[in-house]
Amino acid sequence: MPGVGKMQSLLFQLILMSFVFLNSVNNVNAGITSTFIRKEWPSVDIPLDNEVFAVPTGPNAFSFYCLHIFLLDKVHITQGNYDGNAVIISWVTADEPGSGKVQYGTSEKKYEFTAEGKMTNYTFCNYNSGYIHHVLVDGLEYDPKYYYKIGSGDSAREFWFQTPPMIGPDVSYKFGIIGDLGQTYNSLSTLEHYMQSGAQTVLFVGDLAYANRYQYNDVGIRWDSWGRFVERSTAYQPWIWSAGNHEIEYMPYMNEVIPFKSYLHRYPTPHLACKSSSPMWYAIRRASAHIIVLSSYSPFVKYTPQWIWFSEELKRVDREKTPWLIVLMHVPLYNSNEAHFMEGESVRAVFEEWFIHCKVDVIFAGHVHAYERSNRISNVRYNVSSGERYPVPDKSAPIYIIVGDGGNQEGLAERFRDPQPEYSAFREASYGHSTLEIRNRTHAFYQWNRNDDGKKVAIDSFVLHNQFWSNNLRRRKLKKHHWRSVLGRTASF
Ligand SMILES: [Fe+2]
Repeated sequence: MPGVGKMQSLLFQLILMSFVFLNSVNNVNAGITSTFIRKEWPSVDIPLDNEVFAVPTGPNAFSFYCLHIFLLDKVHITQGNYDGNAVIISWVTADEPGSGKVQYGTSEKKYEFTAEGKMTNYTFCNYNSGYIHHVLVDGLEYDPKYYYKIGSGDSAREFWFQTPPMIGPDVSYKFGIIGDLGQTYNSLSTLEHYMQSGAQTVLFVGDLAYANRYQYNDVGIRWDSWGRFVERSTAYQPWIWSAGNHEIEYMPYMNEVIPFKSYLHRYPTPHLACKSSSPMWYAIRRASAHIIVLSSYSPFVKYTPQWIWFSEELKRVDREKTPWLIVLMHVPLYNSNEAHFMEGESVRAVFEEWFIHCKVDVIFAGHVHAYERSNRISNVRYNVSSGERYPVPDKSAPIYIIVGDGGNQEGLAERFRDPQPEYSAFREASYGHSTLEIRNRTHAFYQWNRNDDGKKVAIDSFVLHNQFWSNNLRRRKLKKHHWRSVLGRTASF
């Protein structure tokens, strides 16, 4: 009978549609554990005589032989004030203090302005640091390329940087995110790939040199080598620093008990500009982003200076001016790796509610030597006595991203917990870095790039919808076609 055949066909189609629908629902919630593990080179530091640590070319190359010419290196810059029209320029001279002046201007070789800063040095065990210079260059224009010269005579060296655009809600900008970098061949691969990305500023999520893996004088020597290693990027664009456990350097057996001694002498931050009482935690605004840096290894519970400052800083966030709210810290709140599992739980208990209330867009962390991205989830209902135990989907929650995969000498964290928890969206134990390309107030394009046999390969990418502005449906509709054409078939959050 034709009627029965038609019914059977319809029933079959209905079952098939239900199967496809249920599968697609399951796939939305199922996290992905990539089985790809890439260890391109052994996890050992590059020998000190390698060319990546070489003294700068030019007249400085003869510094060891000519007493009147001295080494000037380890150049790095960071944002110098709240809104980005200032930089702190830092460098080290090895044998004598030298000039503490920076000459700068917007034309190459024409240095119209001069700034002078402070000089510091320190000892670590029997190691004596060089003369560490920090110069605040402020009152800059937004956007132009600035050329700068440090040192004088045959010791002088020249670099450049570009200031960011003035802060504004639809200012596009591309950040890179690197963590746990170290100084191995894997680290070099990450650094070189990052420099190919076109990103304009690094958000660094802690654990810089891994110098504390050494003893006695070698600790200071490995801080020095790392400074030369990253200079190829840090002299030309700001790196926004946050501290990790490898910066603590509490080493009583060497009579070194002042936490963060090397880090604080070498890597200043603009903490005074945001009313912070410590360079360990601070905030900056850059382009269309408000970036808050927290210190995982400084007191953070209620009434501590960091807690008080953070609560005040969140009140200063103005999503009309800087729609993107980004938080950096070293220890992740959500991590499904066996390495460092639950270490962020105490920070989560104190701050997660604030992250959700303030609709933080994304939180970048390091510490775990792998890559992992969470779903939008929260566990704020858990309060010991409520009986609520598990994170649940929460549209107001940030996405948590771990980029502790810079490539340091401790190697990869290869053991993920099994089964993959529902809060974990994607995880892979490979080296790499991320980029976040903000396009306007509603959309940003995120990408994690694996180091893949000498190439950088984009593995995890998606369009990030702004947590504050994405509810403007009309605006989203207008932009939808444009974003489809630009980004193709990319996941969306
Ligand atoms: Fe760490």
